[in-house]
Amino acid sequence: MGGDHHRPTRALYVSSLLFCLVLLNLKRSIVLANNEGADSPAVSPAPSSSPTSFKPSDSYLLNCGSKSEMKMDDGRTFKSDTETSSYLSTSEDVQASVASIPESAFSNSTPSTLKDLYTSARIFPSDSTYSFFISKPGKHWIRLYFYPITHQKYDLKTAVFTVQTDKFVLLHDFSVDDESKVVFKEYPVNATQHFSLIFKPQKDSCAFVNAIEIAEIPDELLSDSASSVPQGNTLNGLSNYALEVSYRLNMGGPTITPRNDTLSRTWAPDTPYNLFPEGTEAAKGTTVKYRPDHGMTRLVAPDMVYLTADRMASKAYQQTIAPNFNLSWAMNVDGTFSYLIRMHFCDVVSKTLNELYFNVYINSLMALSNLDLSEKAGELNTAYYTDFVLNASLITNDSITVQVGPTTNAGLPNAILNGLEVMKMSNLADSLDGLYAVDGSYKGPGASKLKIVAISGLALAFVAMLFLGVVCVRWKKRPQDWQKKKSFSSWLLPIHGSKSNFSSRKSSLFGSRKSKSGYSSVYSNGLGRFFNLSELQNATQNFDEKTVIGVGGFGKVFIGTLDDGTKVAIKRGNHGSEQGVNEFETEIQMLSKLRHRHLVSFIGFCDEDSEMILVYEYMANGPFRDHLYGSANKPTLTWQQRLEICIGAARGLHYLHTGAAQGIIHRDVKTTNILLDENFVAKVSDFGLSKAAAMDQGHVSTAVKGSFGYLDPEYFRRQQLTEKSDVYSFGVVLFEVLCARAVICPGLPRDQVSLADWAMQWHKKGMIEKIVDPKIAGTICEGSLKKFAEAAEKCLAEYGVDRPSMGDVLWNLEYSLQLQVASSQTDRPEDKSNIMVLEKGSESGEAKSNPAVAVAAESDDSNVTVGSQVPFPNAASISGR
Ligand SMILES: *[C@@H]1O[C@H](CO)[C@@H](O)[C@H](O)[C@H]1NC(C)=O
Ligand SMILES: *[C@@H]1O[C@H](CO)[C@@H](O)[C@H](O)[C@H]1NC(C)=O
Ligand SMILES: *[C@@H]1O[C@H](CO)[C@@H](O)[C@H](O)[C@H]1NC(C)=O
Ligand SMILES: *[C@@H]1O[C@H](CO)[C@@H](O)[C@H](O)[C@H]1NC(C)=O
Ligand SMILES: *[C@@H]1O[C@H](CO)[C@@H](O)[C@H](O)[C@H]1NC(C)=O
Repeated sequence: MGGDHHRPTRALYVSSLLFCLVLLNLKRSIVLANNEGADSPAVSPAPSSSPTSFKPSDSYLLNCGSKSEMKMDDGRTFKSDTETSSYLSTSEDVQASVASIPESAFSNSTPSTLKDLYTSARIFPSDSTYSFFISKPGKHWIRLYFYPITHQKYDLKTAVFTVQTDKFVLLHDFSVDDESKVVFKEYPVNATQHFSLIFKPQKDSCAFVNAIEIAEIPDELLSDSASSVPQGNTLNGLSNYALEVSYRLNMGGPTITPRNDTLSRTWAPDTPYNLFPEGTEAAKGTTVKYRPDHGMTRLVAPDMVYLTADRMASKAYQQTIAPNFNLSWAMNVDGTFSYLIRMHFCDVVSKTLNELYFNVYINSLMALSNLDLSEKAGELNTAYYTDFVLNASLITNDSITVQVGPTTNAGLPNAILNGLEVMKMSNLADSLDGLYAVDGSYKGPGASKLKIVAISGLALAFVAMLFLGVVCVRWKKRPQDWQKKKSFSSWLLPIHGSKSNFSSRKSSLFGSRKSKSGYSSVYSNGLGRFFNLSELQNATQNFDEKTVIGVGGFGKVFIGTLDDGTKVAIKRGNHGSEQGVNEFETEIQMLSKLRHRHLVSFIGFCDEDSEMILVYEYMANGPFRDHLYGSANKPTLTWQQRLEICIGAARGLHYLHTGAAQGIIHRDVKTTNILLDENFVAKVSDFGLSKAAAMDQGHVSTAVKGSFGYLDPEYFRRQQLTEKSDVYSFGVVLFEVLCARAVICPGLPRDQVSLADWAMQWHKKGMIEKIVDPKIAGTICEGSLKKFAEAAEKCLAEYGVDRPSMGDVLWNLEYSLQLQVASSQTDRPEDKSNIMVLEKGSESGEAKSNPAVAVAAESDDSNVTVGSQVPFPNAASISGR
């Protein structure tokens, strides 16, 4: 076995890798100097507390990465953060700006001045801190604006970073990889006199922000206590929590923008969340009273919130079809957190006092019975609100349902709601996103276990050796299984061809936690969701053979449907599988770190009853290859679609190489490992062979694995793995996409067997257009084809150092797509004669002898290793690479 004598060295690599991994988890706390006494730009102390307006003592409004200030339609001015750079501490001054953001990224009620805030950004290649001087410590808004605008050097779409204050984590390993919507985050958080906002990029990534607001919240807005759900106790000490505004709704009314809210809040219409719109009717009052003696002022919510309400539709209840029902709203939340829920009421429907009695339910639990607004508010048309805390343990299904409905003894059945605010409460790690505290320590279940592992490097090394041992042993024992052994992706393939309605529910799935199970170790930033065995049995009709969509070395793969209708791929390890418990856990830990729009998502696992089950996102359209060739009755993908898929896959790989906690090399890039969801969004799958790149050496020494036809010749020769091996394989993928043929065709004449060699010959001759997939040949514009073929050619450079990074490849593909889109907009697709002739071809058309094969012949080592995995029966086909 060629690799065996390297084993101790490799064990060492891996153990040091695992050790670094733990260190990364226990992130260092970084103390950056506060710039004391930084002058506050937009401050003038409040003269008196007038009820209709509020002048915050401290208000910092920053238009980040912009040279100029920006005036809002609400009268506020966001200053350039370069002007006020005295309170930014960062290693490099990196700014980005674009002319505009696509209109579709905004909801149609976004004021245009607010849109402009997203056109610039400040980028942080390393940990950076904004320091603010707060003259009146206490609750403050932190509002953050994110949109991944284009920058030459930094790809903000792949940026992964953490944002925190001195005490609270606001965002953990956060990324904005979806360009389709801007991201706005709002946090009521206690600010101390010297208050810091810290941006911490993941290794090899960067952080960014487009705009920041820090502004005082008036004392009366947030109280220290609330009722718990179900009705009963009062909970105190709420000022110890940091909050994140998840929803802020104006029932029965329009969007309220910062211009119409003295505290610059935005209130959205409730209609998207209303579960029973047919039974709902909007009501509108004419005036609102605020009773200061009841602690109410206009600051709590603007008139427009209290003036409009949703009420039970008179038609619906008169028609005795449904004489009695609830008004209901449902919102998706992260069920691992507790929530503060504020309901605003103002009786704008009654003619006289004491006419309206109703119950309030949260998640089907009685939150308030027999609420009598006349008693609470004292008068009709008078503002009143009430706060509830819903403990995380009462959130099932990652959703909060708020209901109001008439009491049985009410005269006229009716119920109303004027406004609703749902705010996430910080958890025991003082975090609003995951279970890592500001110092990087893990506070979730099993935290103590992690610590023990961290101090016991030896144990790690041992585990690592064990792991390697398992791999090597299995390798030796079952080389003939290689062909049959279906890898990760194969379980995701839909063999019944059924269309799934899986709809990017990734975010809600993560962090799901079944409250009913007594099981504890299930948190969003831990290891994905924990599934009960019974849930997965239900999902697969008790692992019915009919639901099997693949069989792998570890066991079967099933398609399952969860309670909420989500389709998933479920991989169930054989009880007697050689894949031991350690490997199962390693796999979960590795996979749970990888989260990206263009990587197939790991959803969770089940280890009940010594089961080893992994649950993945199900990909409705299966592998990319099936849409290129070899699979009948699939419609032809257009050139533009192919480009978009290549770009998606390139993004996924780019993230693996640069975005994840440490560079990860995929090792098995091919068109069957690029899966397509129901919208043909590409996601890279199969991390079964993936390896973490060693940080200092820049490569990993390892026995050669991968798939023939895609294998990097340099990796083959030197058995040293780098990211550039993935780049090579991706180059082969690009030619496969262009030519729509298999990467190895053993039956063809010798010079055509290997797609990579064959395509490179034609490219060198400057005649790449001759081998383009005939189905799309006439539709590709000259420039687009040229850029694309150049990118593919560069990827296939013989030496890794000469190959571009995935980031460069991505850039070139995007450019190619732009050229194609531009040409299809200006004129009709060109005919074949228009397709350009490349000016390349300095070499003779002669194919060079294949270096990989030459080495394979010379070196017994590599020959043996590789030979054992060759999926082709004879040497002739191997020689085609
Ligand atoms: C937050 O601020 C309030 C008012 O200044 C103070 O009473 C409270 O103790 C603070 N809470 C924390 C956790 O710092
Ligand atoms: C919002 O405020 C502006 C200016 O104060 C006012 O003209 C406008 O009518 C308000 N919008 C609504 C819907 O009340
Ligand atoms: C309203 O909702 C609550 C909680 O979900 C439920 O117990 C009650 O029966 C509902 N009332 C009506 C009239 O449907
Ligand atoms: C939720 O309940 C748990 C267990 O009863 C308790 O420890 C925790 O403090 C509660 N959370 C809140 C926000 O009240
Ligand atoms: C879970 O949520 C989905 C939609 O969000 C809903 O259709 C389903 O009924 C819910 N299931 C339970 C048990 O509440």
